[in-house]
Amino acid sequence: MLINLEKKPEIIAKNVARCREKGITLPTFAQMKNPDLIPQEIKDKLKDVGLWDVNPLNLYRINWHNEPVEKGGQFGGVNYIEIPRKITGTKAHIYALAGKFFPCGVHKVGATYACLAPALVSGNFDAVEQQAVWPSTGNYCRGGAYNSALLGCKSIAILPEDMSQERFNWLKTVAGEIIATPGCESNVKEIFDKCHELDEERGKHIVIFNQFEQFENYLWHYEVTGSAILEVINKLGVKAENVRGYASSTGSGGTLAAGDHLKDVYPNIKIAAGEALQCPTLLRNGFGAHRIEGIGDKHVPWIHNVKNTDMICAIDDQDCMDIYRLFNEPEGKEYLKSIGVEDKDIENLALFGISGIGNMLSAIKMAKYYEMDEDDCVFTILTDSSVMYTSRLKELEEKQGKFSLMEAARVHAASLMHQTIENALELTYYERLRVHNLKYYTWVEQQGKTYEELNRQWYDRNYWKDIPKMTDTIDKMITEFNEMIKG
Ligand SMILES: Cc1ncc(COP(=O)(O)O)c(C=O)c1O
Repeated sequence: MLINLEKKPEIIAKNVARCREKGITLPTFAQMKNPDLIPQEIKDKLKDVGLWDVNPLNLYRINWHNEPVEKGGQFGGVNYIEIPRKITGTKAHIYALAGKFFPCGVHKVGATYACLAPALVSGNFDAVEQQAVWPSTGNYCRGGAYNSALLGCKSIAILPEDMSQERFNWLKTVAGEIIATPGCESNVKEIFDKCHELDEERGKHIVIFNQFEQFENYLWHYEVTGSAILEVINKLGVKAENVRGYASSTGSGGTLAAGDHLKDVYPNIKIAAGEALQCPTLLRNGFGAHRIEGIGDKHVPWIHNVKNTDMICAIDDQDCMDIYRLFNEPEGKEYLKSIGVEDKDIENLALFGISGIGNMLSAIKMAKYYEMDEDDCVFTILTDSSVMYTSRLKELEEKQGKFSLMEAARVHAASLMHQTIENALELTYYERLRVHNLKYYTWVEQQGKTYEELNRQWYDRNYWKDIPKMTDTIDKMITEFNEMIKG
């Protein structure tokens, strides 16, 4: 089974007792997709709870529908924006879901919950005795540590030492332990090595939730992110023929899974996987350090359904850093206003983190590559927001000098209006297979996966389709678990 739901009754009983003691109940996938299903009693209690509070009620805010307020928010439509054409330079509409309004400000809080909840309700994680280990190059360990704190269990966050100061500072407030591994964004091998080390040292005292291989991560994005985009498509009334693209960079490959859901509904949609040009693993089997935090880790994640990927977009990290300045420095905003970007759209620039900017650039490349017109739509994700990276502004000023109006004009012209289709590769069948085959070196040679399963990922047509079929079972187990808590 791709998701382990084998029940361990003794541990389930301990987890139930722990949740009862802390007043915790767990949301189902159905509730995360549709918050109307959340009981009114919980909605009422949320009126006194801040979005980032370490309060178990915030588990019910793990969805794309949170009212965008700091405290007391209820649920509305999906949080998304249309990125104005004055910024994208495309004829096509580009829509982006906004991750800022998840508890603790990052969409990966959802994937971590999806890993933790099935393990809790099946007893494959002991919330009393074991520590939850969250290896990550981005926000996954933030979400994991946060969810662990909500559920009252101990956590270990593992992330590369070069990640932004904001990440470390905040983690210190929630994670039980923080382990900084050597290197930057793309040094995921060092993280895996640390996991193996911990496994040897602490064995049964820990459970490692490895986002790069956990199908719960795939499932959460397939179900919850995918459904949220479908809801936006319906709300906008986009005709099927105009639902043209989904662009998402790959960190763990989880967010990309929303594309699989969209393709099940709109078979002609194209899915683009983004990565950093400075670490072009998918594009060129390449490697390298880069600055788009959260993505591109010199390997192909186990949970990336490569056969469904139509295009690779390698994004220059300098473009992302320059646009991050354009969107956040006063001169940048002044320039954008001067060319007619509306005030509300300027306010929305705070919704873009660095990888969100990268996703927008993938969507732009895609729209240009496929020569999309005014009726066509591409969807993408803003995984977190600008607040996560403000220390980078100072670093960039020290390195590149003060941001001026002239610089703003240069960035707008060069990195946005003249973003080209260079380094966008439409994949043939055998190019997809070439990317899929790269999994062998990480997953079979190093991480203990079998050759047979690797082949099943490519040849067995049901392999990926079987994952969403598990959602109902997981929801049933969550519901039963909640009933046991209530006693
Ligand atoms: C900031 C940021 N962007 C993008 C991603 C990539 O998302 P995924 O891991 O779902 O591919 C992550 C992953 O943690 C991230 O932290």
